[in-house]
Amino acid sequence: MFDKLRPQLISILERGNEAEVKLQEICNLLKENVPYYDWVGFYFKNGDKRELKLGPYAGQPTDHTIIPFGKGICGQVAESDQNFVVPDVEAQDNYIACSLTVKSEIVVPLFLNGKNIGQIDIDSNTADPFTEADERFLEFVNEEVSKIL
Ligand code: SME
Repeated sequence: MFDKLRPQLISILERGNEAEVKLQEICNLLKENVPYYDWVGFYFKNGDKRELKLGPYAGQPTDHTIIPFGKGICGQVAESDQNFVVPDVEAQDNYIACSLTVKSEIVVPLFLNGKNIGQIDIDSNTADPFTEADERFLEFVNEEVSKIL
């Protein structure tokens, strides 16, 4: 599945659209093609502030368009620079619920010139679906995306 998505992702990034449009198309591609990806979105550091701002996403609208550093899974990744795989969101104390149907989450930081400038966030309605294959794939997504930012 991921092997098929990699070239599709590259072709989205190579088209002459604005970055915002490309990121939206990537969110749609991932949500539509990975059965357990129910919400896919990008968050980016909001200027000089220690907070994340929601960028393009696919899935249900969320109230959490701004997330302070340190808050929730996303805010923790903004500070840790590490992937965060959450097999069961109910087992997390520092978690911000976007929808009651969400059971698991993965957040992978996006680096530009070695700096953590944002992240891709995936919510799943399936329990414990993420493997190392998801981590490697999402790292690839972010590396490719960073080239157009
Ligand atoms: N669950 C995230 C918040 C973002 S929503 O999933 C879209 C968190 O705990 O940071």
